[in-house]
Amino acid sequence: MTVVRTPLVVGNWKMNGSFEANRLLLESLLGLLAQKRLPEVGVCPPFPYLPQVGALLAETPVGWGAQTVSEHRVGAYTGQVSASMLKDLGCRYVIVGHSERRQFCGETDETVASQALTTLDSGLMPIVCVGESAEEEAAGKTLAIIDRQLAPVLLALAGVADEGASVVVAYEPVWAIGTGKTPTPEGVQAVHAHIRQALLQAGLVQTRILYGGSVKASNAETLFALPDVDGGLIGGAALNAVEFSTICTAAANRLV
Ligand code: PGA
Repeated sequence: MTVVRTPLVVGNWKMNGSFEANRLLLESLLGLLAQKRLPEVGVCPPFPYLPQVGALLAETPVGWGAQTVSEHRVGAYTGQVSASMLKDLGCRYVIVGHSERRQFCGETDETVASQALTTLDSGLMPIVCVGESAEEEAAGKTLAIIDRQLAPVLLALAGVADEGASVVVAYEPVWAIGTGKTPTPEGVQAVHAHIRQALLQAGLVQTRILYGGSVKASNAETLFALPDVDGGLIGGAALNAVEFSTICTAAANRLV
């Protein structure tokens, strides 16, 4: 069987935006992407803007999603948002386990696994983020950290995720996020190849592995040419229509 993994580029807007800024950004982005050969593209705005972004992107090639989700399905969880609510809002993606959620909101490997499962159960695509800190990288622990973060996710998804077409993993070294630093291309490929092995062993042959952390128009082509990089999770550069559209077209080079 030939495995086809459509390249994917997702913009993580983090806690940025306003009605006006979102409209300007998306109008400009849609103009720049028109008539271009595109990978799968999505953007993840803050929760309150999902209806606006959904309205602006309806009937366009760009999908939308959320930056996190409750691990619970329904009930007395003040302030939380469930995967089925995100489904109601037309979301396609949910980023889970971003390092900023792990760091500032106490999300653990186990809660991330539950979030991935409830997302998948609601018919949405979890984008599961993993990655090591600067200290862990310096101590040579990168692969061990990734194995630890992935293990409960793979366990939770075993038998649920078919061949994994609807699950995405994003490798984001914490020290590369928002810093302008990236690992070497060889470093990125080595970690992605390691993640690929773990996914294959779990039967997730179609799961795409995105790279995230200081991806920009100027380095996207090099990163997306690596054999096990199936696209990118883009932070800062996703807030600039020219940068983000250039990154999207760079990923289109992987289309077969
Ligand atoms: P960055 O963020 O592209 O600004 O480094 C990536 C992310 O946090 O997903």
